[in-house]
Amino acid sequence: MSIIPLEVHDYAFAHSTPQSANLRQVEAWTRDHREDHGMLTGRLEGGLLRLLVSLSGARRIVEVGTFTGYSALSMAQALPEDGTLVTCELDAENAQAARRHFAADPHGHKITLLEGPGLDSLATLRGPFDLAFVDADKENYPNYLDALLPMMRPGGLLAFDNALWSGAVALDDDLRETTVAIRLLNERLRAHPRLDNVLLTVRDGLHLARVL
Ligand SMILES: C[S@@+](CC[C@H](N)C(=O)[O-])C[C@H]1O[C@@H](n2cnc3c(N)ncnc32)[C@H](O)[C@@H]1O
Repeated sequence: MSIIPLEVHDYAFAHSTPQSANLRQVEAWTRDHREDHGMLTGRLEGGLLRLLVSLSGARRIVEVGTFTGYSALSMAQALPEDGTLVTCELDAENAQAARRHFAADPHGHKITLLEGPGLDSLATLRGPFDLAFVDADKENYPNYLDALLPMMRPGGLLAFDNALWSGAVALDDDLRETTVAIRLLNERLRAHPRLDNVLLTVRDGLHLARVL
């Protein structure tokens, strides 16, 4: 979901490096087969993630919330040949679709998918990671921060998707559990003494924080 009008989004995409043929297929398959295809990070944010990996020189990435694999493949494209990306997915059907998409992509071999609750999967991992992208159950966003921060290398980048929650975070009377959790995450990223952050208004809000 995006808070940017669709035609502006399309214009921006038309003036950005096109997505790969494989990513186009992942997007098309997801739109055709999944009612919840609005969860795709999609073309623009996928392109931004790819650039962030390139610019940061990341070699070890961790992701929470694979869905059908779009964001993982977007980031894997920019990893060096020996780079690795671990992605965590709760839902077995999503994991199956993502595995199929990884197998069909020339960058898919860099990706390992861990199936199960993200917090449990993260507890099995060891850092240091260069980049973390979180796009899963919003209620756990503050817990994902707690789990990830000790595994990030100094200079590493944390990225949390849906940090604007369709604008709900700015409405004081919205007290839904998800909104409250995202607000708490945003506040913690802003106030943390070891983080340098910016909340981008890209798509549904992408909150970036560099570990100092
Ligand atoms: C917004 S989608 C991710 C979209 C994906 N990043 C992309 O670019 O297509 C959120 C995903 O998180 C998964 N998810 C939800 N709760 C989770 C949890 N506790 N642990 C791991 N994954 C979870 C959902 O099944 C869903 O596939």
